[in-house]
Amino acid sequence: MTQKELEQLLGDMTLPEKIGQMTQLMGNFYEDDSSSVLTGPAGDLNISKEQLTYAGSVLSGYGAGELIRMQDAYLKSQPHRIPMLFMRDIIHGMKTIFPIPLAQGASFDPELTEKCAEATAKEAAVSGLHVTFAPMTDLVRDARWGRVMESTGEDPYLNSRMTEAAVRGFQGKDVKEPYRIAACLKHFAGYGAATAGRDYNAVEMGEHTLREYYLPSFQAGIDTGAKLVMTAFHTIDGVPCSVNRHLMKEILRDEMGFEGVLISDFGALGETVTHGYCADGTDAARKSLEAGVDIDMMSSVYPGSLRYLVKEEPEYMEMIDACVMRILQLKNALGLFENPYKDADPEEEKKIILCPSHRELARKASSASFVLLKNDGLLPLSEGKDGKKIAFIGPYVYSRQLNSSWAFTGDSRDCVSLKEAAEEIFPGEQTVYLQGCPMLGAEAAFLSGFGEEAKGALLTVTEEEKRNMLQNAVLAAKQADIVVLALGEHFLQSGEATSRAMIEIPEIQMEMFREIRRVNNRIVVILFNGRPLDLREISREAGAILEVWLPGTEGGHAVVDVLTGRVNPSGRLPMSFPYCVGQVPVFYNELRTGRPKIPGQSERFQSKYLDIPNEPLYPFGFGLSYTEFQISPVELSSQSMTPGGSIEARVTVKNIGHTEGTETLQMYLGDLSASVARPVKELKGFRKVTLSPGESREEEFQISEETLRFVRADGRFVSEPGTFRIWIGNSSQTENCAEFELRMNCRELC
Ligand code: NOJ
Repeated sequence: MTQKELEQLLGDMTLPEKIGQMTQLMGNFYEDDSSSVLTGPAGDLNISKEQLTYAGSVLSGYGAGELIRMQDAYLKSQPHRIPMLFMRDIIHGMKTIFPIPLAQGASFDPELTEKCAEATAKEAAVSGLHVTFAPMTDLVRDARWGRVMESTGEDPYLNSRMTEAAVRGFQGKDVKEPYRIAACLKHFAGYGAATAGRDYNAVEMGEHTLREYYLPSFQAGIDTGAKLVMTAFHTIDGVPCSVNRHLMKEILRDEMGFEGVLISDFGALGETVTHGYCADGTDAARKSLEAGVDIDMMSSVYPGSLRYLVKEEPEYMEMIDACVMRILQLKNALGLFENPYKDADPEEEKKIILCPSHRELARKASSASFVLLKNDGLLPLSEGKDGKKIAFIGPYVYSRQLNSSWAFTGDSRDCVSLKEAAEEIFPGEQTVYLQGCPMLGAEAAFLSGFGEEAKGALLTVTEEEKRNMLQNAVLAAKQADIVVLALGEHFLQSGEATSRAMIEIPEIQMEMFREIRRVNNRIVVILFNGRPLDLREISREAGAILEVWLPGTEGGHAVVDVLTGRVNPSGRLPMSFPYCVGQVPVFYNELRTGRPKIPGQSERFQSKYLDIPNEPLYPFGFGLSYTEFQISPVELSSQSMTPGGSIEARVTVKNIGHTEGTETLQMYLGDLSASVARPVKELKGFRKVTLSPGESREEEFQISEETLRFVRADGRFVSEPGTFRIWIGNSSQTENCAEFELRMNCRELC
């Protein structure tokens, strides 16, 4: 449709129809035959039959057949035949589940993330979906917060590149094209900074910090054309985000240039009353409109109050029209007026979902995300050719639950377990497979509110069974030359509403680890988890540690690919792994303090802990390989630069080991003095370099004046003259650096 036709359509719509467009309900509000009969939780929201008939978008259904049928039934009841939008959380895969976003961050490979998002969009589109609530681009620094698994980590630069890649992958060049779905950036803004890492908790954050660290990845997503943005649940400096006019209108729309659809988070408009910020539904509706929220996801604020609001205060009609226009424009951009089913196709669905090429991509993306944290020469394993006995032990040996709690559309039965994958490679007579212990001990108590999903984990194992499991595992470990211990968090321990105060591997698994360690010290730990954990003990006692996150459908194969060295690990940590929880939040790009801790000095009045180091156990950007790389000192093309010019920073990387491998070169910048204190260092570039043994390559990063810009106290994004340091290395702790000056004349300074 042309804009003019959309305007005519809007002009012709009744108020209930308009409010309908601004209402999103769950799929289970509609009966199977889609005759728009109220069912289930509809009663809780006080949704009337008319409101149900007009609701313009639905959350949570999928499947081509079902959505085509729903669309047909819906269209029949629409006076203007405006199609329904089908939205859903397709976070890291539809049916083929790719590694969790945090793991994708670890790959430092935006191209790979783009491919995963493209494959995800294809599976989702043929299943009838139009919009995914992804990517979650929130910056995360607090490992206690369960949703860190949905983010690509603690760094604004890495998050921005990953967000762009995900948006490109979902939407392509034109979201109307076949197999594309619209992306939704979430959660605007600062959701990752919940006080004490507790989900939904208040955020207290100065606007400088918000702009400098938390907004850039949203800006990157908006600039790439993301069609939607989602509000967040929390209050920021006392005001709930969802009705925060300053945040949504002045910052998101006016400054950042977002023109798409702003959708609330689930029930969030209604929660503004619970926050004690809005007096009642009408007040919440008024404030939500003023903030420019277009769609109310699952609260009764818009369906219940907009009508009364415009009756009392007709001036709000203009704002309603603006919201509805943006929703119509989104439907139009997806081509739904011409083809309301878009790509929904039961035949294509059969062909595309879990097709071999998607599985292959999932396997590649998983292994690329693994981070080798320690290796005392135990890895890679020899595939049994040396006759050595390997005992695979741990709850993740058999588990197919390698998807996350955000993979609702995935099915763990499609996952390849570690055991299944290992059996394809290692000779049967040299391997044993044992569970050793249940996934959870006393911690299982938290699962009580998790319903169906937690069923398996709640199965009780008697004390005697536990003893036997452990005894058998210890015996097998004793007889083995090497033990591969597959440990980690239960998949329901990360995700939404899964904050943890103790970020440790479940104690029952640690007890097993200790027993096994007593009889065999050649232990390789494979870690499955959705957040950085306190790994002190494992890191001290295990011979090797491979972080594999929640690796998805092809997880088992990918783990075996890396264990055997068929794939040389090249992932790097996207988030610091704290020394212990008392250090959290710990992140590499912290501001300089006036009393820094100087290595080797034991001054009393320094910024430090008395009982633990300042540094995390494993820093951002860290990860080992089966080979070794040498990086030459940084050489600069010039010692100074003026605006408009640039400096090239060069290093030569050499593979000095015996096997091909990939180094992830990371370029960091530090601004030594500025009008606001600047971080110790900040990532400004990265590149993956694959080299054969003995091979070396010169790599160059370009720095221009734009690279040196930052948010000043007055909110302007500019650079200031002075001395800068540039580091190029293989983790945020690199000390390989050089310095240069940015020079400006008076005019450029203003
Ligand atoms: C709440 C979550 O915060 C959000 O990320 C998600 O998209 C919605 N629920 C819809 O499921």
